[in-house]
Order: sequence, then structure tokens, then C-alpha cells
Amino acid sequence: MAEYTEYSGAGMRIAAAERFEADFKEDAGADPHEHYAAMRGGCPVVRVRKGNGLRPFLITRYADAKAALLDPRLSKNPEYGREEIVAAGLAEVFLEGAAALADNMLVADPPDHTRLRKLVAGQFTTRRSAELGPRVQQITDELIDAIAPVGRADFMADFAVQLPALVIAELLGVPDSDRDRFRLWSQESLLPQQDPRQLAGLSALARYVAEIVERKRAAPGEDLISAMIESRGEDRLTERELVSSIRLLIIAGHETTVNLLGNGMLALLRDPAQADLLRERPELVPGAVEEFLRYESPVERATARFASQDVRIGETLIPRGSMVYVAPEDLTYQQSVLMRGLTRLPIRFQAAA
Ligand code: HEM
Repeated sequence: MAEYTEYSGAGMRIAAAERFEADFKEDAGADPHEHYAAMRGGCPVVRVRKGNGLRPFLITRYADAKAALLDPRLSKNPEYGREEIVAAGLAEVFLEGAAALADNMLVADPPDHTRLRKLVAGQFTTRRSAELGPRVQQITDELIDAIAPVGRADFMADFAVQLPALVIAELLGVPDSDRDRFRLWSQESLLPQQDPRQLAGLSALARYVAEIVERKRAAPGEDLISAMIESRGEDRLTERELVSSIRLLIIAGHETTVNLLGNGMLALLRDPAQADLLRERPELVPGAVEEFLRYESPVERATARFASQDVRIGETLIPRGSMVYVAPEDLTYQQSVLMRGLTRLPIRFQAAA
């Protein structure tokens, strides 16, 4: 039954839960835009029903999304959503399992978030990125060299999924001898939750990270893990926070980049003239990367937030304890396609460069 209220512009209350509830796909697949449009059904903040029984509020409109992402009352702490989580039988996943034990910035609120983020942000320097550039090029060339003699490839499996894992391994300082298994576990951890290999991959990665931290502590290098170990003391990080933060970098940097590469390639295949333009003018590539991010977001929605108090977003009251999703995927689409009355978005490398 409805336990939230939607407010109309005139301040009139409308009980909206039954009207707007809809079946939300965990992964909207090939055309998420249509799925999100169906979910909204004309209502900017809508309560959806997931296959696992949870009923998060879905925020898609630009102004609402900005307000929600900046609102400290929408917390990363699932304890605020305990009632709904327990009712859905998901306490193990959210409150007691591996996710609950994660101590990293993605599941933290300030001041912990500030402290945990500082550790990583301080290490992502321009110098470190610039130094990594030639190695990224080399890794890319090696992947392409393996494909070239075959003459054909599955772009996702043979390239898009491989490159981010290898670059992260480089950034973190994973030794060459461990790279194959590191890459396998990283890839397994991206599989859908119901696939048993996903949990196996995540667990193996967790064990490996703990092991490599020990090795780097004994013999530090120039890599990110060694730097994080060294600055750990200043930022008062526990061992668990350190290991969890490293795991976050592996997971957060992997799937997002896979999707960026895949979406970018698809956009170029659909628009060969733009592909030709990039071949002729490689100086447009940096702008093109920004454009791909805008054109089709690699992330369908941000991670879950939980209302620590009643929060009003636009004209909808989100009651304390509710789970909230913000969908940037839909935002970029609305901004660039719907608001401009287009059916298909033109890619604009030159403008973005
Ligand atoms: C195309 C590439 C990427 C995209 C589109 C992307 C997108 C995002 C988004 C939307 C969030 C916010 C999630 C939320 O608050 O719910 C996020 C957070 C984060 N991402 Fe990425 N990401 C990308 C690449 C990377 C890479 C390469 C790394 C590291 C190697 C990384 C590390 C992180 C971390 C540590 C956070 C947590 C930040 C915080 O809570 O303050 N991401 N990313």
C-alpha cells in the first residue's frame, strides 16, 4: 500500500504509489532510454518495484537529480533503509554481507567519506596520469597486435573488457606474473549478481588485495598501492579501509571504462562519417572521449542512497527510510535528445574538442 505522497504543483496531495509503481529492470540492456521513459510514465520522481522486492524512488530529471546528489540527508548508509531491506529478505546482501563490510568512500558519508576520499584523491595526480600514458598506449597496442593477424574480433571480449583491467593493474602495481589471474577476477566480479562466478571473483580479488598489500608493505614500489600504504598513517585509515579502498578502485574503474569503450565504438559504427573524421583528425580524440561520456552515459544510475529523514525532491516527498536511485543515464538523454526535440543525437566531436 502507498506510504508516500506526491504533491502536485498546486500543493494538492495525491497518493501515487499504486499509480506510478512499475517493474524496474536491474539492467535495462540495449535501450535503457525507452525503459526509463516507461518507468517515469510522465512522473519525474517515481517509485519503482525491483525484481528483488525493493521499491526505490527513481530520480531522472536534471534539477531533481542535482538536488538529490547534493542533499546530505540522502545517505549512503543502508542502515537507514533497514526496514524495507529486511522486509525484502535482503539483510544478508545490504546489512550483513560483503557490501556491508566494505569500508570505502562509495558507501560512506562525511566525515568518513572526506577522510577516505582524501587518501585516493591525493594520489591521482596529473603527474601520475601523465606517467601512465605511454604504458596505456603500449598495452593498447599489444591488444590490437593480438587481434590484427586474426582479422576479426569481438570488440567487447577481446578489447573493451581487457584494457581497463590491465591499466588498473599497471596503476596499482600488480606484478606481471599475477596479471592473468587479476584480470580474470576483475572480469568475473563484473558478472551479474546471480552468477556464482561473480562472488568467487570478488572473494578472490579481496584475498589477493590483502596479500599484495602485505607484499608492497615489505617491498614498496612507485605504484598507487605503495603510495596509499605510505599515506595511510596520516589519514588514520584502518587496514580494512585500506584494502576496501583498493578493491573499490579495481571495481569502480573497470565496468565504467568497459562501457565507455563499448558505447563509443557503437556510436562510431552507427555514424561512419564521424569515425572517418576521427581517423583523419586524431587531434579530435580527447574531445571525442568527453563527447562519448555525454552522448551515452557509461553508468545507468548512481549507487543507492537512503533517506535519513523525509526529503522533498521537486514535488515529491520521499519518506525517511526509502531507497533512492539517481539515473544520470537518463539525464544526459533528456538533456540532449528530448529537450532538443531530436530523435537521434548527432555526435559533435569538433564542438566538444
Ligand atoms: C568512464 C569512466 C568512469 C565513469 C563514467 C565513472 C562514473 C562514476 C560515477 C557516476 C560515480 C558516482 C557513484 C555514486 O555516487 O553513486 C563514480 C564514483 C567513483 N569512481 Fe568512477 N567512473 C569512471 C571511472 C573510474 C576510474 C577509472 C576509477 C578509478 C580507477 C574510478 C573510481 C571511482 C571512485 C573511487 C568513486 C567514488 C567517489 C566518491 O564516492 O567520492 N572511476 N564514478
